[in-house]
Amino acid sequence: MSVPVTEAVNPITKNVDVASPLEIVSLLHKCDKEIFEGWNEYKSLYDEEVLATLDKIITVAASIIENAASGLIVLSGCGTSGRIAFLTARTFNAKLSELSRTPCFKYLIAGRDKALFTSQEAPEDDPVCGVEMLKEITDGKTKVLFIGITCGLSAPYVGGQLQYCMENLGVFTPVVLGFNPTHLARNNPIEKWESTFLQVINKMEEMKSSSNVFILNPVVGPEPITGSSRMKSGSATKVLLETIFTGAILSAKSGDRPWQTKSFIQSYQVVCNNLYNAKGSMEAVAQIVELAGNSLKSNGSIYYVGEGTLGIMGMIDASECPPTYGASLSDVRGFLDRGYKSFRNNDGDLSSLGLHFQISFNDMIKDILPHVKPFDVVIYITSDGNVDQRMTKCLCKKALISFAPKSSTVISTDVEVNMSLPKEALISLIGETAFQQFSMLFEEISTKWILNAITTGTHVMKGKVFQNMMVDLKVSNNKLFHRAIGIIQRFSELSLEDSKDCLLRSIYNTDNLSEEIRERPISCHIEAATPLSQVVPRALLSAILSCSVSESQRLLDKEPVIQKVISQTLSGVNQ
Ligand code: F6P
Repeated sequence: MSVPVTEAVNPITKNVDVASPLEIVSLLHKCDKEIFEGWNEYKSLYDEEVLATLDKIITVAASIIENAASGLIVLSGCGTSGRIAFLTARTFNAKLSELSRTPCFKYLIAGRDKALFTSQEAPEDDPVCGVEMLKEITDGKTKVLFIGITCGLSAPYVGGQLQYCMENLGVFTPVVLGFNPTHLARNNPIEKWESTFLQVINKMEEMKSSSNVFILNPVVGPEPITGSSRMKSGSATKVLLETIFTGAILSAKSGDRPWQTKSFIQSYQVVCNNLYNAKGSMEAVAQIVELAGNSLKSNGSIYYVGEGTLGIMGMIDASECPPTYGASLSDVRGFLDRGYKSFRNNDGDLSSLGLHFQISFNDMIKDILPHVKPFDVVIYITSDGNVDQRMTKCLCKKALISFAPKSSTVISTDVEVNMSLPKEALISLIGETAFQQFSMLFEEISTKWILNAITTGTHVMKGKVFQNMMVDLKVSNNKLFHRAIGIIQRFSELSLEDSKDCLLRSIYNTDNLSEEIRERPISCHIEAATPLSQVVPRALLSAILSCSVSESQRLLDKEPVIQKVISQTLSGVNQ
């Protein structure tokens, strides 16, 4: 069975677990460049078919923008895909308002707005709930462009919505956005549903030549941390959505666009290639990784502080640390100027849900700043170099990521990264006016690349990653259940069945697996595993050493750094 590209191991980062902070940042940057350079023989972002599909979607989007009273553009996804959907809808609704047009973008995220901050993985497996939410927000609309984002072409929540759209083509134009070739879409049975995701994609393949059904699936190569689709796939999602909607807004405004679709994508490539061009900037980001990594190792915290969309980039980056690295909700947090007033999410102020839903500067001033530890790290993210002075009064480590020259910085920090966009090159690709209008999008993607490097680097430093694989993942949905089995199989060389048994023994904390347990539906295993910790490392050690579950737990209790305990175990076995 072939491994989907989004779940494959990237050879570039094979030894990232033993790399220095500077090497980590450089390796991640190399992986990010692959987004544009393409991967193996697969279609890249610049493939003719991809560009032609983008142009057709732009035309549909432009016609909805022109008829916003009856039309709607819905962006939907799970985890980071849903968060990028939210950010894109927010950005382009604001652009339409600026142009005195009716905002017509909506987003959907599995698990609703709670999932914007904290991962809600169980709803990702629920196609019925996906359809209900789609019906709810499109009620009364006669023309809907639906873009279902699922980087791995796998999320049942999105699969259900796509199927519903195909059954209602009079209203819906469905688009699936993901980063695997279609034959590698997930083919696992889904509970409460008669189709697999692959069957939905196959149906879309059949329909795409005769109806308004689109598949947008360039391949951007494996993720730097295996399966962590928040990274390259998340960035490529942002690039493609923004390419579509900047094009659509201008087409609707003037009937034409002053750039080719390809040039708009190239502008992100130029930004990527120039990311660390300023002297010392890669070293400065590596210094932040080191500060933040040391902080997490001493049980400290990392706080992102920013305004507008750059602050939101911080919040999105923070939200992925618990599901990706088993981090606590307090390890990495993001704060946003004016909190929910600026966030503008569907469900409004969620701060009553608890501490981790309190996101404003005032919340940080009240709850965090008085108690910071000297080794905590506050990272300010700013477009113009300005930082709210109230946020700087803290006795801990400080870092600044800014898109303004060093001379305009008003606070003193331990590390400062001064980014600058390659203005001339961007203007030559998209023109002066568009550069003025959309340069914020380039600052956002630059910020995403840097913050992803910071949180990946810090968790690598904390020993959470073995080779380039996050082994201590939460087994909290169907995709992660199968990923866990794949990890056990890869390192133990057991059969698929035996690897699954090992995982179940760890989940149910038993060495004698009954037939009754084996036959339970996967959703039961997920429910049992979700609240537990170290499920996969425990299973993996007992698979490699052929020992009991309690023996492998004993080894983990002795050495909590996953990277060390697994490499020691493997080298012991190899000797
Ligand atoms: O299941 C959790 C998760 O892996 C998130 O980390 C990720 O952002 C999300 O799923 C989305 O996956 P996809 O875009 O492939 O549906």
